[in-house]
Amino acid sequence: MTQTVRSDDSPTQLLAPVRVIEPVSEPGPPAPGPLHAAPALDPHPGGLSSLDARSISAWFGDHNVLDRVSLTMPGGVVTSLIGPSGCGKSTFLRILNRMHELVPSASLAGEVLLDGQDIYDPAWRLTDARRQIGMVFQKPNPFPAMSIYDNVVAGLRLTGRRVAQAEKDWLVETSLTKAGLWTEVRNRLAAPGGGLSGGQQQRLCIARSLAVRPRVLLMDEPCSALDPTSTRVIEDTMLELASEVTIVIVTHNMQQAARVSQQCAFFLAEAGTPGVIVEHGDTSAMFTSPQDPRTEAYVQGRFG
Ligand SMILES: Nc1ncnc2c1ncn2[C@@H]1O[C@H](COP(=O)(O)OP(=O)(O)OP(=O)(O)O)[C@@H](O)[C@H]1O
Ligand SMILES: [Mg+2]
Repeated sequence: MTQTVRSDDSPTQLLAPVRVIEPVSEPGPPAPGPLHAAPALDPHPGGLSSLDARSISAWFGDHNVLDRVSLTMPGGVVTSLIGPSGCGKSTFLRILNRMHELVPSASLAGEVLLDGQDIYDPAWRLTDARRQIGMVFQKPNPFPAMSIYDNVVAGLRLTGRRVAQAEKDWLVETSLTKAGLWTEVRNRLAAPGGGLSGGQQQRLCIARSLAVRPRVLLMDEPCSALDPTSTRVIEDTMLELASEVTIVIVTHNMQQAARVSQQCAFFLAEAGTPGVIVEHGDTSAMFTSPQDPRTEAYVQGRFG
């Protein structure tokens, strides 16, 4: 079903890439409750989810871009991924929610466990992985002609869920509130998403991700196209969300990594070799007393 090879210690093998295209079919929605009387947005029992990447290798064609990268991203902890351009941060992030396999030449090896369950297991549908592990991209990508309201619930439509109007209304308000956008748009929900500012559009995309109630939210340089004020609003939003959803963020901004994350991983691809994690651990320790001289050079801005 997938191109995953599970081989923790043995040499990784490259299998022919397989594009996975599955029919979208989801179970029906929970019974809608009245507006303002719904349960908390994150109903996942047992607390926040943990994501565990084990021995991840990745290729584009025969170009090996990640080599046996392992990282545990615990629930309740914001993890930042840092490193120079081209070291494989985005590739790693896309592997965490099965987007990598959509590139025709792409293949991978290793395991990604969400609360101990392998998301590449054939029993997992692609749509399950995407719904439970959401992604926010560098450039805000709302549907520009679609209303703000419809943008928020677009993820439900794409996964084929049929949701009653009352639940939709609740999801729109709750998701926009969580994304820190509700008060700015509550009176213009029918206006097109493309009419919002860049920072608002990015928060709309965060709301769209939250509406499908993910267990993990992946963010790939979510503020790199934004002004400092919008960046600060998104960072505040992340800090609020951190108690409800496990967050992994790629950033080139060391101050941002320090502000929003408790765990940090430094990726590096040296001299044509595939990307690896040089060092990971407590964010403040990484910045104040890094163990590896390459980490020290990077966090002090001496390269990259
Ligand atoms: N679709 C693709 N096809 C072929 N090669 C790719 C593709 N996407 C990425 N790569 C290559 O994979 C390697 C890792 O790229 P990736 O985008 O993961 O790096 P990154 O660390 O996110 O960089 P940046 O900080 O610039 O975003 C690079 O050598 C890149 O050229
Ligand atoms: Mg990238």
